[in-house]
Amino acid sequence: LGGLSPENPSYALAFRFVRGDGGHVWLEETARGEFDSTGRLMRIKGLTRDITERKQLEDHKNTLISELDHRVKNVLATVSAIVVQTQNDNASIADFVARVDHRIKSLAATHELLSHSRWHGVSLAEIVHRELAPYDTRSACIHGSDITLKPEAAQATTMVVHELTTNAVKYGALSHCRGRVSVRWYQQTNGSLSDHLVIDWCEAGGPPVDATHKPGYGTSVIRDLIPYELGGSVDYVLAPEGVCCRLEIPAMFLRTAARSVAGSNGAE
Ligand SMILES: Nc1ncnc2c1ncn2[C@@H]1O[C@H](COP(=O)(O)OP(=O)(O)OP(=O)(O)O)[C@@H](O)[C@H]1O
Ligand SMILES: [Mg+2]
Repeated sequence: LGGLSPENPSYALAFRFVRGDGGHVWLEETARGEFDSTGRLMRIKGLTRDITERKQLEDHKNTLISELDHRVKNVLATVSAIVVQTQNDNASIADFVARVDHRIKSLAATHELLSHSRWHGVSLAEIVHRELAPYDTRSACIHGSDITLKPEAAQATTMVVHELTTNAVKYGALSHCRGRVSVRWYQQTNGSLSDHLVIDWCEAGGPPVDATHKPGYGTSVIRDLIPYELGGSVDYVLAPEGVCCRLEIPAMFLRTAARSVAGSNGAE
C-alpha cells in the first residue's frame, strides 16, 4: 500500500492462497485509493476475486501451445528426414516427388485422425485399413483386438505400416495376384513387459524375396522408428518366401478396450 499516491492511485495483484486442506485458490486483488486535496490517503476501495478457473484455463492453454510447438517441430523434422532420405541416385525427379508426396500424405492422414479424436489417439485397425485401402487387399487378413494408440505411437506405427505396405506393393506379396498379407495384433505379457502390443506383419505368395538389395529409407523407418521413438522392438526378416515383421510396442502407449475386431479384404 506504501506505493499508492495521487499520481498512482490503484493496484492489482494476483496471488496463490494455500488453504488449510492443502488445496489452493488463485485470488486477484484490485484496489483504488482515494486522496484528499493535500494528497493524504483517505480510504481504499478494493475487490478480491477468485480467479482459479481463469488461471487453470491459462495453464491449459500454455500447455497446449508448448505441446503444439513440440509437435510442429517434430513434424517438420520428420518431413525434412523424408525428403533427404527418399533421395535415390537412380530415381527420376517424378519418382522422387511421388514417393515424398505419398509419405507426407500418409503423415497428414494420421494427423487428421488424431485431430479428429482431439488428440486422444487412433485405432490400430483404422491405421492398418487406411494404409492398405488403396491396394487390392481382397485376400488380406487383418485381425486384432480393439486397441487405440496414443498420438506418439500412432504416428510412428503409421509410418512403419506405410513403409511395409509400399514395399509389399512394390516388391512383395501385394505385387502379385496370388500374394497374401496378414496383419494380426494382440497384447502379450512377457517378463517385465506387461500387456505390450505385438503386431505381426506376414507376407506370402509373392515373388521370391531378394534380400541382397541395398536398404533404403523404408528399411530404416521399419527397423529404427519404434525402438527409437517408443522404446519398443522390431524383428524384421526378409525371408525368401515373404517378408515378416514383428513390432512390439510398450503398454504405456496404448489405450485399451476389450472388443475384438476382425476382417479380411479391408472390411470389418
Ligand atoms: N515386402 C518386400 N518383399 C520383397 N522385397 C522387399 C520387401 N520389402 C523390401 N524389400 C527389398 O528390400 C529393399 C529395401 O527396401 P527399402 O524399403 O529400404 O527401400 P526401397 O523401397 O527400395 O526405397 P525407399 O527408400 O523408397 O523405401 C528393396 O529394394 C527390396 O529389394
Ligand atoms: Mg521402401
